[in-house]
Amino acid sequence: MLVSERDQLNPVGERFLLYTAPLRAAIASFADDVRTGLGAPSKFLSPKYFYDELGSALFEAITFLPEYYLTRAETDILERYAGEIFDALGEPVEIVEFGSGSARKTRLLIAEACRRQERVEYKPIDISPTALIDSAAGLVAEYERLHVSAYACDYFETLASGRVRTSQRVLALFLGSNVGNYQPADAERLLRAMSSSFKRGDALLLGTDLKKAAATLEVAYNDPTGVTAAFDKNLLGRINRELSGNFDLDAFEHVARYDREAGVVNSYLMARRGQTVRIGDLEMDVKFATNETIHTEASYKFDAFDVMRLAARAGYRVSRRWLDSESRYAVSLLIAE
Ligand code: AVI
Repeated sequence: MLVSERDQLNPVGERFLLYTAPLRAAIASFADDVRTGLGAPSKFLSPKYFYDELGSALFEAITFLPEYYLTRAETDILERYAGEIFDALGEPVEIVEFGSGSARKTRLLIAEACRRQERVEYKPIDISPTALIDSAAGLVAEYERLHVSAYACDYFETLASGRVRTSQRVLALFLGSNVGNYQPADAERLLRAMSSSFKRGDALLLGTDLKKAAATLEVAYNDPTGVTAAFDKNLLGRINRELSGNFDLDAFEHVARYDREAGVVNSYLMARRGQTVRIGDLEMDVKFATNETIHTEASYKFDAFDVMRLAARAGYRVSRRWLDSESRYAVSLLIAE
């Protein structure tokens, strides 16, 4: 695939265009972020680095785990209410999706849009060009009325650049509880960037996991099969592979704790023993004490009030809300004011 300093437009097929942003910045930022995070007094790594090819496959596996109910619950909602969602919009829309992932669930909404509209514009934005190509190519083959313009870029950069031009009413999708991986102020900033890039009356369909018992949440983020542990440790694997690190993955334990007050599941990698890790490309030695942790992910949970507050702060009002059959997960329709 062509990548240059400036955006590239790659026609992948007649109904599929792919825009790619420069790749060099992404490589530099992994190294910079690892240096910052592992050099900090309370060590941390950004969850955005989970998703290389192996990490994306491990996440896909997580979505099939019996303990990780989120994906199934959201699919259940979209299967049951896709019709109601489009009825609530009441006019033709173009779909802009933030974080397309495997597009398994998006398919349900695209199918509904294609039943109602002669032509459906679908604009997924995802940092991973391979995820975009895999998902969009399948969709274009399946739906004749679908036209895809995919953007392999950072959400904030893409919104700020004004690259995503829309003419019809927009239905933006931010599904999969992805908003939960942002700290509250960042979630607000991102939703605000969305509402200010789109028109008054444009919609945002937001998928959020509900607050619930700590035991249910903690096992969802630390399954007994160890898939989530492997997903978390892949961050260390990436440092080994891409930055010549020598992390011993067995010397770290994956830990997930629900902080009820803040409404967040925090994931950590905890050193089983004191050790020093060398990261060759950064010429950095990182010391760990026994039980010292690296914070790797925050997964925020939202009740109805949390969604309303976030929406109001970001320039939206909540118009509708649907729950799955077991009331574990919510999909909310927000309208830009
Ligand atoms: C992608 N994201 C919404 C998932 C979550 O639930 O926070 C990532 C994940 N981490 C561990 N399991 C799943």
